[in-house]
Amino acid sequence: VPRSFFVNEPDTDWALAANRGWVEAIREQWHKVQEEEVIAVPLVINGEILAQDRPVVDCHDPSRPGMLVGRYVRGVAEDAHRALTAATADTDGWRRLNSRERHRVLSQAAMALRAARADLVGMAMAETGKICTEADIEVSEAIDFTELYPLAASEFDTLPNVQLSGQGTVLVIAPWNFPIAIPCGGIAAALAAGNTVIFKPSSDAVLTGYRLCQCFWEAGVSQKTLQFLPCSGADVAPILTADERVSAIILTGGTETGLRILAQSPGVYLAAETGGKNATIVTDMADRDQAVKNVLHSAFSNSGQKCSATSLLILEKTVYDDSRFRRQLVDAAASIQVGSAWDFATRLGPLIRPPAGELLRGLTTLEAGEEWALAPTMVNGNPQLWSPGIKYGVRPGSFTHLTELFGPVLGVMRAENLNEAINLVNQTGYGLTSGLESLDTREQETWKARIRAGNLYINRSTTGAIVLRQPFGGMGKSSLGPGLKAGSIEYVSQFMCVTETEPPA
Ligand code: ALA
Repeated sequence: VPRSFFVNEPDTDWALAANRGWVEAIREQWHKVQEEEVIAVPLVINGEILAQDRPVVDCHDPSRPGMLVGRYVRGVAEDAHRALTAATADTDGWRRLNSRERHRVLSQAAMALRAARADLVGMAMAETGKICTEADIEVSEAIDFTELYPLAASEFDTLPNVQLSGQGTVLVIAPWNFPIAIPCGGIAAALAAGNTVIFKPSSDAVLTGYRLCQCFWEAGVSQKTLQFLPCSGADVAPILTADERVSAIILTGGTETGLRILAQSPGVYLAAETGGKNATIVTDMADRDQAVKNVLHSAFSNSGQKCSATSLLILEKTVYDDSRFRRQLVDAAASIQVGSAWDFATRLGPLIRPPAGELLRGLTTLEAGEEWALAPTMVNGNPQLWSPGIKYGVRPGSFTHLTELFGPVLGVMRAENLNEAINLVNQTGYGLTSGLESLDTREQETWKARIRAGNLYINRSTTGAIVLRQPFGGMGKSSLGPGLKAGSIEYVSQFMCVTETEPPA
């Protein structure tokens, strides 16, 4: 019987030695992957498992460059067309189920996710280089989404004089940086609302995406209702995004990808969470010790590869000029253990790929006025492994001020006062998360009134939103579409159609 209430799923308790041992077992398993044993993850289209006559792609471990951890079959244009036809036909009748029936199946999916925690954590570690504690919290979040959305859909279904149904087919395009929680949230919302789903995982997180789908399939969502289509974002995904049979697209990815989809299909319903250039402001009224801890977690967890990460630290002048604060920030950052995701002591693991373009520029060059308070360096000869970098002296309007870098580098700016600091944040044009470190309630009120961002955190890190407690979504360049927040009750409603059954009295 599905739960009629919502509680957040607990994360693994790492204080228990048995749980740390559990991670050892996951590591053993992944380090034994043998080239000759690796079976390619197939496509699942219209209930068929497809593995022949298509390109096969190798997946490597960012912690151990060159080490194979899996293979997947990449879909071709014909697969996209077949998936669209099957999703539209809905021959297994997912759209005909009522919300209670869908809730029952999705509660089973949440159970399957609980049982798959070790697999999901291991796969995310193996193919994206995420450390186990970060992968583990994603499993909890995935379970939360899978519990919350069908519960919310059932609540909407109790509204008088209206009938709710799915809109048709939802395309879920997911990122690699949250390979468990984000795709799961999209899939769960679309299914809970009564839609069929085509899931295109990130090419860097296909193994995890497949294991996620297995949880839904095991629970009773058919392989025609939820189809699995890893494919190239350049030539096959556009077939999906341009097709009129797709009623909605859930995208988490770059702002440019979202804009490209909208340019190509102006009529499509796009729920997109895109980039971020998030800042934390530390004022003179902050608890500076607490600020250091929160900022470092915000900037460097998952190696800074979070849309929610703090990549700008804006210090009120007294804090900027405080040499003790600077030393504390730098010493604490330098003490972060950098290494392989498979080492339990690691707090900062590898990047998804060797830095290039803007990230490489951010990690290796200084602009006018900037100086390294802590210079990032490549670690252990692994081009994907970089120690944290902190740049002081970032100037308004500069590359470091305005460019999303998505890596372990933090730019520090000086502001005369809180108002100037807020202006510097708002100038980025993004608006996903924002942090304030201040114990002064008047400053908190000023900041809340003026800052332009979707998720505001006071005296807390800017990453790690908790489902229902901190619904997640942005504004400005960080969001395209209607901007309903993930992890909220109303999120699911955007994928539903409302039909009036009786005229209002
Ligand atoms: N929801 C993720 C976070 O809050 C992106 O960090």
